Amino acid sequence: MENSFTMRKPYDMHMHLRQGELLATTVRDQSKWFCGGLVMPNTIPPVSTPERLTDYAGQIRKLNPDFRTVMSFKLLPGMKSSVVRKLHDAGAAVGKLYPAGATTNSEDGVKTWHNIKIALATMCDLGMILSIHCERPDAYCLDREYKYHSEFRAIAKAFPDLKIVFEHISDRRSIDLVDGMGENIAGTITAHHLLLTLDDVIGGNMNPHNFCKPVVKTERDRAAIREAAFSGNKKFFFGSDSAPHLRIKKESGSAGGGIYSAPCAVPLMAELFEQYGCLDKLENFMSVFGPEFYGLPVSEDKITLVKAGFRIPDEIDGVVPLMAGKNVSWSYHKGILKTIMESELYLRNSSC
Ligand code: NCD
Ligand code: ZN
Repeated sequence: MENSFTMRKPYDMHMHLRQGELLATTVRDQSKWFCGGLVMPNTIPPVSTPERLTDYAGQIRKLNPDFRTVMSFKLLPGMKSSVVRKLHDAGAAVGKLYPAGATTNSEDGVKTWHNIKIALATMCDLGMILSIHCERPDAYCLDREYKYHSEFRAIAKAFPDLKIVFEHISDRRSIDLVDGMGENIAGTITAHHLLLTLDDVIGGNMNPHNFCKPVVKTERDRAAIREAAFSGNKKFFFGSDSAPHLRIKKESGSAGGGIYSAPCAVPLMAELFEQYGCLDKLENFMSVFGPEFYGLPVSEDKITLVKAGFRIPDEIDGVVPLMAGKNVSWSYHKGILKTIMESELYLRNSSC
């Protein structure tokens, strides 16, 4: 058994960096493990104007100028071609489609793709990428993703040259869908959809910290998602969908969907891939296929994981991370391990 493992620094192709104080937390935690990634636009107000995009990108850059961000904007019904062009000029590479009411801060989202036809055509002209939260909010919760397939197919058919990402795949039938489509179609896979099933949310006492959209599903779904991640198929790459919600809100009786995985996703993935004898597939999945699809340079920086083990903190800046309290066999090299432990100590002290 190897005691250390080195790979190119990963990209996280789906991150919710939030705003205000949480933004500093997420940028710190993301950049420890990732060289960069795709920034989601579901802030309040949303990133849907060039001014807000410039401002948000500037705030992130100020916190860490080396973190390579790919900025997205939120597609709003009736969005004009001129607005999309200005967003592109301001640095947006991706448009994000949220079906109205499907998830956190999506009430202003899209009821049918016909309402964003002009924006999509413009994105196509500009060579931008479409990222979709694929769920039909009026369907039964466990079938919402599957019931979105017809809409997904319709968009792909109407814009055959558009690169489209099927985000956070949770249903085995979506793996088949993405796999069966052209090279311009890819899918992201999260750590939590690779690790959890619905039993981890409602199988015992209800755990709001494992609640996300789309909800984690059955063992069969998880097995199909694992198979895709381990397969070495470049259509499937890592996007954490790391989405912190404060503990007090998660435990308030009305928990929003979202799991904070940025601080622990990389060691958790190393542990899982090793368990299935596929550690050699991890680098492509986390560090190569994503940037290749997005046309980004792979990172020249490397990270080394060692078999030192670390305990995922119970809480980080008011947020309970994925698998809080679990001991993971892999950890970062000593320097970073020290930082993590110091921050845990800091947390314990500061929560008194
Ligand atoms: C995300 C959030 O909290 O912003 N929540 C989630 O459950 N994944 C939004 C999203 O990507 O659906
Ligand atoms: Zn998300």
